[in-house]
Amino acid sequence: MKTYTGKTLREMYLGFFEKRGHKIIPSASLIPENDPTVLFTTAGMHPLVPYLLGEKHPAGKRLCDVQKCVRTGDIDDVGDERHCTFFEMLGNWSLGDYFKEEMIPWSYEFLTGEDYLHIPSDKLAVTVFGGDDTLPCDTESAELWEKAGIKKENIYFMPRENNWWGPAGLTGPCGTDTEMFVIRKPKCSPTCNPDCNCGAFLEIWNDVFMRFNKQADGSFTELSQKNVDTGMGLERALCVLNGKSSVYETDIFENAIKVISSLTGKEYGENEETTKAFRVLLDHCRTATFMLGDEKGIVPSNTDQGYILRRIIRRAVRFGRKIDLPEGSLTKISEAFIEYYQDVYPELKINAQKIADELLKEEAKFTKTLQQGLKEFEKCLNGIERKNAFMSQKDPAYIPEKSIGGKQAFHLYDTYGFPVEITAEMAKERGFSVDMDGYKSAFEEHQSKSKAGSEQKFACGLADHKEATTALHTATHLLHSALKKVCSPDVQQKGSNITEERLRFDFNLPQPMTAEQIKQVEDLVNEQIQKDIPVVMKEITLEEAKAEGFTGLFESKYGEVVKTYTIGDFSKEICGGPHVESTGKLGKFKIQKEQSCGSGLRRIKAVLE
Ligand code: ALA
Repeated sequence: MKTYTGKTLREMYLGFFEKRGHKIIPSASLIPENDPTVLFTTAGMHPLVPYLLGEKHPAGKRLCDVQKCVRTGDIDDVGDERHCTFFEMLGNWSLGDYFKEEMIPWSYEFLTGEDYLHIPSDKLAVTVFGGDDTLPCDTESAELWEKAGIKKENIYFMPRENNWWGPAGLTGPCGTDTEMFVIRKPKCSPTCNPDCNCGAFLEIWNDVFMRFNKQADGSFTELSQKNVDTGMGLERALCVLNGKSSVYETDIFENAIKVISSLTGKEYGENEETTKAFRVLLDHCRTATFMLGDEKGIVPSNTDQGYILRRIIRRAVRFGRKIDLPEGSLTKISEAFIEYYQDVYPELKINAQKIADELLKEEAKFTKTLQQGLKEFEKCLNGIERKNAFMSQKDPAYIPEKSIGGKQAFHLYDTYGFPVEITAEMAKERGFSVDMDGYKSAFEEHQSKSKAGSEQKFACGLADHKEATTALHTATHLLHSALKKVCSPDVQQKGSNITEERLRFDFNLPQPMTAEQIKQVEDLVNEQIQKDIPVVMKEITLEEAKAEGFTGLFESKYGEVVKTYTIGDFSKEICGGPHVESTGKLGKFKIQKEQSCGSGLRRIKAVLE
């Protein structure tokens, strides 16, 4: 049996279609340009959406390529034999040019031809769209397959769940498809079909006959042209063609496996757990390498693509720990991939330094908190177990709790950097789940708090709470005096409240202040600020203070000796303080609101800018 490498299969595929009038186009970025509904390029057709919708492609109507793709929907399944988050998709397209009549015979020729994959035709099975309420059965494709050489009994009519493809994101081109499978072993039962998981049928290729456009409201419109979109996942095709059971047993991963072995002293295939850790490391390091090395390079962060990247790297770190991978190793595994792919994806070599730096940084960041976080996680599970044991003893009907609270999961994320999906996976390994809704609420609550926090500005730009409130305190005295001067000598303070951002001052006044009065008060206060008047504190008896004309509230509280604050000849108040040393520190005084706060009472909210 011939052994296929990534390189031979890529070249063979592109060569076949080039001979049939196709232009080879380069892979687009992993970050989609035309689709805000999804974070990564998920299929070969994804970057071609505008052309499938009718725009003219500069390279013509027949295209083929190898496209970098990322699908993270099944990330927790990575570690088994066939899931990868990154993969290359071989594909060819007709943009309103050929359709089924050409594509099906070509597919057959590529799969069975001596110069190509050379799969015996009785080892091939296909599925076609079986029809439903809205669209008829695709007998046309079935007939074309039979005519080409597929045995009738190996042609399966399947429902929409199986033979409809797309769109790549939430909207866009889509249609019925026909999928091709290699028959690996006898069917497990008479009803076994390509949808069965027994391993008798392994998918190798998919031809989509694209005639529809899915709209944002979920409806479908007919495209102005009939397209063909095909996709062959390179890793899976290699695995099937080489008669392997796992995508990791292809030349793509060979060197990276050696690197992991030499770093850990363990062997791929040694036992189930080790093999799983190898696979997670292989897949995740490769995906991270392509994300970081992408022409639209991304870096780990807490949102969107950056979050996925962070999650992937951190999951790799966690699995690395299981096989004693030393810290700083992800870069070394990544280097094996850069080496392997450099001819096909030169951007990896170009961005090699960045890839290495970011991997090292992210690995170090997570490693720092991992140990502590794992301890915290254990503590959390133990707590639940203890409670369960206690409760079950008291009440035999008690149903044990098997879920980690949302707040705890958020704590693990916020303090120890555990993406919630990792916590959920760890929980699952121990028969627990995570309250995801609770996590979301905790996360959102935190978001809104920190948003409020970051928008919060201290009064007149002062650095801390204390300084800011002190300044507002002094401003309150100036305001009080100004109100007496502008509105009425009868004005008295009826209440006051100060936060870091603003002052609130309640006082008696039978009618609202006019705009004019508000302006006069502001001006008067700002005048005192500009004069930079010293604020003088003196401790005297209550009687002396009264005699000297200091204003004071809540007199009974003050006791014999009281603190008085004098601001030039503008303000004299009995007050506990503290206050600024001189008014020049206050910045600009501004009244934001003047409103009623009860009968005969007004309330002012003001700030220092
Ligand atoms: N777009 C099709 C797929 O991804 C070919 O399977």
